[in-house]
Amino acid sequence: MNASVPLTLKSISKRYGNLHALKPISLHVAAGEMLALLGPSGCGKTTTLRIIAGFTTPNTGNVLIGGADVTDLPPNKRGLGMVFQNYSLFPHMTVGENVAYGLKMRGIGAAERTRKVRAMLDLVRLSNFEDREIHQMSGGQQQRVALARSLVTDPKILLLDEPLGALDRNLRESMQFELRAIQKRLGITSIIVTHDQEEALTMSDRIAVMADGQIVQVGTPLDIYERPENQFVSEFLGTANIFEGTLAGPAADGYWNVRLALPNAPVVKVAGPKGLSSSDRVRIAVRPERLSIKSKDEALRARVRGVVFRGSYYAYELDLPGSTKPIYVYNSERTEAGEDGTIGLAWPETYAILLNEGGAR
Ligand SMILES: Nc1ncnc2c1ncn2[C@@H]1O[C@H](COP(=O)(O)OP(=O)(O)OP(=O)(O)O)[C@@H](O)[C@H]1O
Ligand SMILES: [Mg+2]
Repeated sequence: MNASVPLTLKSISKRYGNLHALKPISLHVAAGEMLALLGPSGCGKTTTLRIIAGFTTPNTGNVLIGGADVTDLPPNKRGLGMVFQNYSLFPHMTVGENVAYGLKMRGIGAAERTRKVRAMLDLVRLSNFEDREIHQMSGGQQQRVALARSLVTDPKILLLDEPLGALDRNLRESMQFELRAIQKRLGITSIIVTHDQEEALTMSDRIAVMADGQIVQVGTPLDIYERPENQFVSEFLGTANIFEGTLAGPAADGYWNVRLALPNAPVVKVAGPKGLSSSDRVRIAVRPERLSIKSKDEALRARVRGVVFRGSYYAYELDLPGSTKPIYVYNSERTEAGEDGTIGLAWPETYAILLNEGGAR
């Protein structure tokens, strides 16, 4: 196995006619790291991957693998392994022949081919399937054949474009863990493209969130989820309740008092950077699982629109007077509304997120 190498993109851009599919993006993936490219359809994820692989030529910028500039090298000279959503396996070949294909192309002898193919099939837990036909394999098994085929040539970098997209939910979840375990065991620098937030959170060391041909935020899953820099990221990574407000002056320990733009103008506390000024307009995001519901004595009162049981929690849909959108709260217990039909919303100081828009940050 190759020693892990880093991957660097320097100001890569791509135009298709008038469409700026990629505005210049730069990205560094450390040796052995798994990075997820996450973003909505059409934001440029596959284009980025194809440029790294050498199938698409960028208009500007450079691709560096292990510090060496590969921008002008053809795909087969870049030392990459690739898995796509539809696997693109050869249907008329057996599992073993599919995995051996890349080795054969490189002129590797039969004995070594057999040895390497078996080692790879062991790795993906398909040891006894070497002679099976592809069409006799389930979706999850085919996915593992594709992975084995992409890894057998000892690539320096592994590129995965929606590799689990064709699998049903349960299989998908178990494959996420398995793929991640294999990637870690090999220590191979990898990029996984997905538009599934949970998949990105589960599988990667860091996530690059893309929108509209640009990278809008890069960080660890926890960073991206708990400290999104703007409303797009906070809403793309799961449900976020957005509140508008005005800074009403500093509170203790790096917190600000924020006057929410709601009737009675309740004041809540939010962690925020220094250097803001009072009366700045701000926007705040709070995750549904961070808000909680109290039967009484809370400054924020909301009317219950509906409650559903979701196994490990109750999901509340609430009308907050003065707010145009409903508020969502995930609460571990069921709490009855008072006689006036309202309940109290408890504000989580630690987990309220000050967003980039509206003058702050
Ligand atoms: N060969 C091409 N010619 C013209 N436009 C293209 C070409 N390839 C991609 N595009 C456009 O570039 C943009 C980015 O496409 P890309 O395939 O990178 O998106 P994506 O993020 O992978 O989306 P999805 O999640 O749907 O796969 C899209 O608007 C797409 O229509
Ligand atoms: Mg794509």
